[in-house]
Amino acid sequence: MITVFGSVNIDLVSRTARLPRPGETVPGSDYQLIPGGKGANQALAARRAGASVRMIGAVGTDDMATIALSELEAGGVDLSGIQRSGATTGMAVITVDDNAENTIVLSPGANARLSASGLQAGAIGAGDTLLLQMEVPFAENLAAARIAKAAGARVILSIAPFLPVEREAFADVDMILVNETEAADLARHLGLLPGSNGAATVAKLASELGRTVIATLGPEGAVAATQTETISVPALKVVPVDTTGAGDTFCGVLAALLDEGADLATAMRRASVAGSLACAKAGAQPSFPLREAIELSLASDPAFP
Ligand code: RIB
Repeated sequence: MITVFGSVNIDLVSRTARLPRPGETVPGSDYQLIPGGKGANQALAARRAGASVRMIGAVGTDDMATIALSELEAGGVDLSGIQRSGATTGMAVITVDDNAENTIVLSPGANARLSASGLQAGAIGAGDTLLLQMEVPFAENLAAARIAKAAGARVILSIAPFLPVEREAFADVDMILVNETEAADLARHLGLLPGSNGAATVAKLASELGRTVIATLGPEGAVAATQTETISVPALKVVPVDTTGAGDTFCGVLAALLDEGADLATAMRRASVAGSLACAKAGAQPSFPLREAIELSLASDPAFP
């Protein structure tokens, strides 16, 4: 069983030929309201990969809450741990250009009020997985990690978006997920020089923190450093349409595979394929693949051993 403790947002998305410069107005497409949030995205990606998933998050009492939870509800994610507060539902204002690059401005709303008290003692047990990101109060993340670790669960932290957390914050974390930029930011924050590439940086981080560190590398795939080995996996070759949520897809699918007992290399291959597939469609949650699509792409791509 996977518990995701994290953000639930509405993504207000506009497409444009190119991203505006500061002070500039550019024409955009009609806007779309799409369910998002790194927590909700990871929960849905894990669910579509076949895991049983519980979401602990917070939404407002506004109309946006229903839209924000719609895909999770349709996908069969357990929403009994959703807290409702008087604040607005979190909203991410996203611009996507013709090269599939994006900018995101996040108004946290109810996410800023999420409390780890929603993680009832006994709700998470030995062998379960807790998945965390950085769009909710970090003190609550730490409290959730403490509860899960004490229960014997696996704790995975996606440091997205990057925040300069102290190394004590990793005490109850087993696995740290980053993209290449976040890996370099974390290395510098810890007083390390980033390596010449993603693999070198995660190796330094894993050794410094005594934890498994995994970095997604965009079209180059992903790399993990444990205390004993380095694992690299490729990405699928896709024509990118929108990269929003691709990293979340990787995190959710990785957690799903590990939770079902797969080894790290097996889990990373599926996570990388799923992240690639998510880049080939518009929007975050609408682009997340089902397990069958992941297995099919994996089996038909010669780049994957
Ligand atoms: O990682 C993508 C997500 O980041 C979007 O869905 C948006 O809600 C922001 O939280």
